[in-house]
Amino acid sequence: MSKELLAFENIYKSYGKVDVLKNISLTLYENETLGLLGDNGAGKSTLIKCLSGLEEIDKGSISINGKKLNPKKYNIKKARTYGLETVYQDSSLAKEQEIYKNIFLGRELVNFFGFIDIKKEKAISLNLLKNFLGLRGSGVLADSKVSTLSGGERQGLAIARAVHFNSKIIILDEPTTALGIKEVKKVLDFIKALREHKKSSIFITHNLAHAYELSTRFLIIDKGEVKENILKKDISLQGLQNTLLRVAK
Ligand SMILES: Nc1ncnc2c1ncn2[C@@H]1O[C@H](COP(=O)(O)OP(=O)(O)OP(=O)(O)O)[C@@H](O)[C@H]1O
Ligand SMILES: [Mg+2]
Repeated sequence: MSKELLAFENIYKSYGKVDVLKNISLTLYENETLGLLGDNGAGKSTLIKCLSGLEEIDKGSISINGKKLNPKKYNIKKARTYGLETVYQDSSLAKEQEIYKNIFLGRELVNFFGFIDIKKEKAISLNLLKNFLGLRGSGVLADSKVSTLSGGERQGLAIARAVHFNSKIIILDEPTTALGIKEVKKVLDFIKALREHKKSSIFITHNLAHAYELSTRFLIIDKGEVKENILKKDISLQGLQNTLLRVAK
């Protein structure tokens, strides 16, 4: 049995009168890629926002690495200290700030004299963008504003940040939607490589072929509830498609 990294149990979340998550439980184990699937409006992004500490849950329990956490005190910063990093659908980047600042925001590199080492931050940023993600756009400079990047480049930047800080759990909400064909392949390869490094990820996509290729397990939700939890080895791509259609009826 693999080690449990993260467990959210019996989670409820409402926005005003709208009950978006209704008694959802999600467990993530070491060395797995969990495909979180479901129709538009099923609650996937909301669940991700709760997992990553962006949104507070109304009810339920949270544990990471076997340690039970207080949901009222759980936030993005806390999640990061436990090695959990998220790439959001509606980007988590500060668009009017430079690329390198976005990578190191809140986790600045400090030199011997206690000053922020901007030169080093820029060098690491550029290396991540050019060499890790292979971004070739002419606007990709360490001090370009994020607002000048393409959608794909922005996703790449958010992923590069997670990689640089060596996150153990990486959550990606539709990371390939805005990407060009070569960028998509890079992101998919990256998600695959995570597992080889004993890291786990949770990955949302509407592209079933990508989900099937990458995931080791699928969690299907609908109207804020878990409907199916299936290991990849137990289902074919066609079977997965049929299951999704049946669930979304
Ligand atoms: N801040 C909010 N206020 C009110 N309702 C919200 C809010 N955020 C989400 N919702 C509602 O909650 C439901 C789930 O939204 P969510 O974004 O989690 O869906 P999703 O599964 O990510 O969908 P998609 O695949 O289209 O991205 C939707 O009906 C949405 O309108
Ligand atoms: Mg969504």
